[in-house]
Amino acid sequence: MHVYKLILMGFGSVHQAFVRLLLEKGEILARRYHLAFRVVGAADSRGGVYQPAGLDLKALLGHKGAGQSVTRFPGGDPVPDSLTLARTADYDLLLEASPVNLTDGEPALSCVRAALARGKVAVLANKAPLVLDFGGLHALARERDAGLAFSATVCGGLPVINVGQRDLIAADIHRIEGVFNSTSNYILTRMAAGESYERALAEAQRRGLAETDPSLDVDGWDTANKLVIIANAILGLSVRLDDVEVRGIRELTAAQIARVRAEGRMVRLIARAERSDTGWRLEVRPRQVPLTSFLGGVDLWEMGIVFYTDIFEDLYLKIDERGPTATAAAVLRDVVHLAQLV
Ligand SMILES: NC(=O)c1ccc[n+]([C@@H]2O[C@H](COP(=O)([O-])OP(=O)(O)OC[C@H]3O[C@@H](n4cnc5c(N)ncnc54)[C@H](OP(=O)(O)O)[C@@H]3O)[C@@H](O)[C@H]2O)c1
Repeated sequence: MHVYKLILMGFGSVHQAFVRLLLEKGEILARRYHLAFRVVGAADSRGGVYQPAGLDLKALLGHKGAGQSVTRFPGGDPVPDSLTLARTADYDLLLEASPVNLTDGEPALSCVRAALARGKVAVLANKAPLVLDFGGLHALARERDAGLAFSATVCGGLPVINVGQRDLIAADIHRIEGVFNSTSNYILTRMAAGESYERALAEAQRRGLAETDPSLDVDGWDTANKLVIIANAILGLSVRLDDVEVRGIRELTAAQIARVRAEGRMVRLIARAERSDTGWRLEVRPRQVPLTSFLGGVDLWEMGIVFYTDIFEDLYLKIDERGPTATAAAVLRDVVHLAQLV
């Protein structure tokens, strides 16, 4: 059995849940896939830690849970930052789950580039590097025979990217639409039931589902990021955030949402990519949908997508994701798929 060495960029909700999965699922990973994983490094906002023999994961979770930075973890050597770890450590796979930075993607973008340039595998939960440089990262991965996977970036555990890239063989997709952001969906659903915007947002933050910067959720940028990744990865387009028309939910009032609900419809924040005679139109905005429709029924913490195709007709997928574990499981899914190719 081969032991794969991992480094974790960011050690917040997603990577802590990922480490718990490694602890819980180690036996299944060994038995079913003949794989074992050793976390040799981790980094958070204050620095990193490196231990070639493998970090004690239970102790690291306890240390972080006590409010300490990983860089002060006594079971390894301190490293100044995540990029130093990405450039210098001995590892097979780099996992990136630090906050989304749409300004320049840093430090995640440089970390992912460093891993790919060294011919390693990069597994992303962080959308920003892909949104800013989808083509460049893929070109670098091809040039260096490196691996790149990002199924966790679009709707966490929901296998949107896998289905779209692998399973819709020979399909002509002419429209994709979905509810991609569970924080704004939860807020809209709770507001339709009379709760305040502030209370609903606080609950999403408590569960570890909201983005570090909540404006990404409520102003539509997280949804738009996912639409850009889908458009590039599944529709074969070469688009950026500027190509998406984006409107969020912040301007909606509880009274407006409740009125729409009383008329048998729901307000959902909907992403849509639609092909017309003049090309593709990419849009994120609140829309009224019938309560009885698929997207009207994507409730609370759920996220869902519809692929409108020729030969598969209309394909509907949804997930009820109430914490970061399903996203961590998507990271694990990518890690297992790519480790088998290393
Ligand atoms: N949560 C979800 O369900 C979910 C779902 C899909 C995708 N994602 C994506 O996954 C990523 C992580 O999400 P999360 O919920 O785990 O966020 P989080 O709980 O806020 O954790 C972020 C982690 O990144 C660290 N960090 C901040 N700045 C850093 C830097 N300059 N260098 C290295 N590490 C840095 C933070 O350090 P400190 O611990 O010191 O603050 C923290 O450990 C985000 O990009 C998010 O969009 C999350």
